[in-house]
Amino acid sequence: MKREYITHSPQATKIVAQKIAKELQRKDEGPVVFALIGKLGSGKTTFLKGLALGLGIKKRILSPTFILMRRFKLSHSHFKSFYHIDCWRLESPQDILSIGWEKILSPENIIAIEWADRIKEFLPRDTIEVKFKIIDPKTRKITIKGKVL
Ligand SMILES: Nc1ncnc2c1ncn2[C@@H]1O[C@H](COP(=O)(O)OP(=O)(O)OP(=O)(O)O)[C@@H](O)[C@H]1O
Ligand SMILES: [Mg+2]
Repeated sequence: MKREYITHSPQATKIVAQKIAKELQRKDEGPVVFALIGKLGSGKTTFLKGLALGLGIKKRILSPTFILMRRFKLSHSHFKSFYHIDCWRLESPQDILSIGWEKILSPENIIAIEWADRIKEFLPRDTIEVKFKIIDPKTRKITIKGKVL
């Protein structure tokens, strides 16, 4: 399934993500993975903040410039943890394995990955692809491919 959104503010981008986060259901086969793909400043972190809001995360989401991964424990959710991964600084795709990638890929987790195109070969088959396009300074086109529900 493909959905397309045009947003005219960071807040609007967050709301799109927040709504999606609230719809998420666990699957037996594996985790819910969001591959966030788009140029610098296109809205990946902003969207991820919306996901975190929708999941009830109160902690601030940062751009993990020097960290590859951050984990947030979820309460009041049928998922256990939310992972924020940023592959911007990854030197080679295999380096993703160093954070315990195989373990993170568990049905109890939700994983959102910035610059996910850098680890394409390690993404599960049913990854939800979220692409960001800068239309103008305030406008983004967000294309979501994959089964959200
Ligand atoms: N409609 C919009 N949706 C999201 N962000 C927007 C929008 N309009 C303007 N912006 C601005 O674009 C920037 C998006 O920044 P953000 O950190 O989310 O991008 P990013 O894709 O994570 O960048 P990076 O590749 O550096 O991690 C912010 O400065 C935000 O204010
Ligand atoms: Mg970012």
